[in-house]
Amino acid sequence: MAHHVGNRGVEAAPFGELPDGREVTLYRLTNADGMTVEVMNYGGIIVSLKAPDREGNVEDIVLGFDTLDGYLSEAYRRLNPYFGALIGRYGNRIDQGRFSLDGTTYQLATNDGDNHLHGGEEGFDRRLWQAEPFSDENGEGVILHYVSEDGEEGYPGRLEATVTYTLTDDNALEVSYRAETDRATPVNLTQHSYFNLSGEGDPSILDHVLTIHGDAFTPVDETLIPTGEIRDVAGTPFDFRQPTPIGRRIGDDNRQLARGGGYDHNFVLAMDNAPLDAPRSAARVVDPDSGRVLEIATTEPGLQFYSGNFLDGSVTGKGGEPYLKRSGFALETQHFPDSPNRPDFPSTILEPDETYRSLTVYRFSTDADDD
Ligand code: GLA
Repeated sequence: MAHHVGNRGVEAAPFGELPDGREVTLYRLTNADGMTVEVMNYGGIIVSLKAPDREGNVEDIVLGFDTLDGYLSEAYRRLNPYFGALIGRYGNRIDQGRFSLDGTTYQLATNDGDNHLHGGEEGFDRRLWQAEPFSDENGEGVILHYVSEDGEEGYPGRLEATVTYTLTDDNALEVSYRAETDRATPVNLTQHSYFNLSGEGDPSILDHVLTIHGDAFTPVDETLIPTGEIRDVAGTPFDFRQPTPIGRRIGDDNRQLARGGGYDHNFVLAMDNAPLDAPRSAARVVDPDSGRVLEIATTEPGLQFYSGNFLDGSVTGKGGEPYLKRSGFALETQHFPDSPNRPDFPSTILEPDETYRSLTVYRFSTDADDD
């Protein structure tokens, strides 16, 4: 099953069985620079991502588990952090799990209080995807395919989703999404990796220096549903237009930070999609300790910055360390939360004669690469 080109290649290995006996496979992508990404076909979950620091030391910088059982455990399901997972059909929340489309009201599964979150009880993060590894001039990768049947989690239409992970030789991980439906349905796919650029298991991301290229954000109510306002970040703790340590203002007396328990907000990058061949620069994160740098570019108009506020030490990760509050952050490229109920937000409705397409690129480097 290996597709080796020198060190470069994709290897597939068994990663355990689901409770119903279906087998899960882990794909390891290795590029010419020695960077590796491991992805499994359960949930399309990124299990590990190893990148060099400024001295060349390679470390795993995403939260997760060494074994499939970690992702299936009671403690994990209770916390439900969506480590590394593909999220669908709808990234983030839909108010009361309800929306109207073409005169019909749909009731989705409610799995976050009264709201719908990240696709429902059994979102794309808990589905077994069909997987096909590949190795070509663009890099090493795996194509994942999942068919979400009409009515799944309350959604209308049969949705065919394809997600391609490609690790390139210049240390970028490209995640490209495509979907088609036979009836109009909301679609908002994303990737929910938690990064700690000091290495997973490190206790805090508060000293990471973050830049977000968003002039506005969408404030939320007590249940983290957008109020509909698009608020300028100027003069608020949400202004990350200049590089700022995540922890600098996270404890400020601010109603939005209080509601999120920290940052858990959608930033407005634009009000439309960027072309597939020209994703926009969305964010940059620098870890002053290791020198690792993560840059994210996307065709999506929004970016959810989540500072790991619900992590509470109740699950222990790969390195044997408990994952503490704010020991990882997620930057989820997406359309805005609750868009099906917000006609002023960019639309998330996919029609049967359209193709959903989205691309996000995560580029890894170090501050030693800077001139
Ligand atoms: C998203 C949400 C958060 C939380 C995490 C998963 O980022 O916005 O509120 O639910 O997912 O724990």
